[in-house]
Amino acid sequence: MSKFKRYTITAALPYANGPVHIGHLAGCYLPADIYVRYLRSKNEDVKFICGSDEHGVPITIKAKKEGITPQQVVDKYHKIMGDSFNEFGISFDIFSRTSSKTHHETASGFFKTLYDKGIFKEEITEQYFDETANQFLADRYIVGTCPKCGNINAYGDQCENCGSTLNATDLINPRSTLSGEKPVMRKTKNWFLPLDTMQPQIEAYIDSHKEWKANVFGQCKSWLSAGLQPRAMTRDLDWGVKVPIDSAEGKVLYVWFDAPIGYISATKELTPDWEKYWKDKETKLVHFIGKDNIVFHCIIFPAMLMAEGSYILPENVPANEFLNLEGDKISTSRNWAVWLHEYLLDFKDKQDALRYSLCANAPETKDNDFTWKDFQAKNNNELVAILGNFINRTLVLTHKYYDGKVPVAAEYTKADIILLEEMSRFPAKIASSIELYRFREALGELMNLARLGNKYLADNEPWILIKTDAVRVQTTMNLSLQITANLAVLMEPFLPFTSKKLFSMLNLNSGLKWNDAERTDLLQAGHQINPSSLLFEKIEDEAITAQVNKLEASKIANQTEADKPEDELSLMQKTAAPAKPDITFEDFNKMDVRVGTILEAERVPKTDKLMKLLIDTGIDKRTVVSGIAAYYKPEDIIGQQVSILVNLAPRKIKNIESQGMILMAENNAGELSFVLPAKSNMNNGSNIK
Ligand code: 2FM
Ligand code: ZN
Repeated sequence: MSKFKRYTITAALPYANGPVHIGHLAGCYLPADIYVRYLRSKNEDVKFICGSDEHGVPITIKAKKEGITPQQVVDKYHKIMGDSFNEFGISFDIFSRTSSKTHHETASGFFKTLYDKGIFKEEITEQYFDETANQFLADRYIVGTCPKCGNINAYGDQCENCGSTLNATDLINPRSTLSGEKPVMRKTKNWFLPLDTMQPQIEAYIDSHKEWKANVFGQCKSWLSAGLQPRAMTRDLDWGVKVPIDSAEGKVLYVWFDAPIGYISATKELTPDWEKYWKDKETKLVHFIGKDNIVFHCIIFPAMLMAEGSYILPENVPANEFLNLEGDKISTSRNWAVWLHEYLLDFKDKQDALRYSLCANAPETKDNDFTWKDFQAKNNNELVAILGNFINRTLVLTHKYYDGKVPVAAEYTKADIILLEEMSRFPAKIASSIELYRFREALGELMNLARLGNKYLADNEPWILIKTDAVRVQTTMNLSLQITANLAVLMEPFLPFTSKKLFSMLNLNSGLKWNDAERTDLLQAGHQINPSSLLFEKIEDEAITAQVNKLEASKIANQTEADKPEDELSLMQKTAAPAKPDITFEDFNKMDVRVGTILEAERVPKTDKLMKLLIDTGIDKRTVVSGIAAYYKPEDIIGQQVSILVNLAPRKIKNIESQGMILMAENNAGELSFVLPAKSNMNNGSNIK
């Protein structure tokens, strides 16, 4: 029996400065949703809390970039993000926002309580100031070299390379992200949370949670062993929750002070009973986050809660690592991402295929890679071939032999009895993995139940036996149907859309709960099931190729447009990328690569990277847009021979139809070079093979 009476489950509040991609889903929202759906199925009292994080420098930077106000930015993305979560079945009880009135009141009230208790150290310190922009440079308004790892693009609050939390004044060679200039120092007053003097309490708290995931516990211990430093909880900015004290004109709360309080404000908006979800020791508080948020949820927020005094502390923080995409870091600015709203345009009603593949491949203990090929394989070889196949055969045979009426089970054989015992153990097995936040393992067990069903059908061959032993077939089909019904219950946290469909095909009450699946008689003899249809469809190669091409196109359009220049250290450390999976000769042979000559070259207006080229391919003269402008001047490359892929489907880049792709070599520093024939007598149109 759990010692907890209720659960408060939060998923990190995403910054409202962009849409949601698969990395978000896999890192935090999907595991949280599976956990919550499971708890609901166990009839637990649970609140699932999220919302958008609408303050902080990432929002104001986005507003500047788009030429709109921060409020317009958050209004736009709050809606887009909320819609995506909804469409993928992420079943928040509330998706609130930190610009809400309740949140401003709650966050400012929380600060005031700490202030009145004398918790903060009020200090005048020198902070970086951009004289051109006439502004203090907090957090992401400043970049410089990380003192810990040498990354030259560490932010003022955090180094994304080594994960260290930083203060802007720690940075070496700081520069303003607003003007690019070297900032000056200016005195300003701020309020600091004395993490240094709180270290013993925080350390005791972390040490009482040795059961946390190794990556989370390990990170906490390393911060603690480096020694915690006081951290400013206020900022000289104009976008955020105003600091609620008289002498703090022009200052707002640090976004990492206000954002986690957003979990509390959202709960307040959800229920007048909110206090029991935050203050009662019998409530289990669990934060689902990505690994870049660990310090804020495991050290800073608990320190704030301890200082306030009336709140419970997080019981667990099951942070995931990162999901990469086709071997590369997901990047919003390089458009190297699979956006949830775009996925549904191409894979209509296939939310569960993505949920499945992201859960089966979740970055639970290390960074993982999403590839479209693997997505296809998981759909075709697992969902279709194992789960879908078992259920489909069972339902089709039930319609065929019994007009859709569940047959009476006759006598059980020894094998049937073993099957029944095995079946009844699955709910506990899957539950135990979920409770340990091992969602991949849990999903694997769910599939094992389907495998058990497939083996049972294969061992009993009802389609053959029907000619000689109809009574035995009744038992086989009855038991296969019971497995199907149990699958409908147990798949719900992972594959909610499919579960719903299956309940309806089984004509069963979808209100059945987890513990019902311990029974092996959910379907009564004589019960009429509804017509069945396939639960999963095969995904064809063409659909996958189209996705890969789409990514390649954004790679070309952004070829040199990295998120930010890579730091020297990691560039030097970079070795050749691992080989891609094998392809067949036929796959290779589909590519038509020719020698061509550049006839004309001009920069594409309003881009730094793109050049429009006219190429004589020997077959024709055609336009190609290529991301080479940072490496070649137009006047230098007229007459240059190149290798060109001529049968790449045309696509629009900056409104120009690009009819092919110039092959480029890219070195470890990301510099590009044409790939040329080594002899000069290769005429245009020569095949490269
Ligand atoms: O990393 C992020 O996207 C942050 N907006 C997460 C905030 S989580 C919480 F504290 F609200
Ligand atoms: Zn670093």
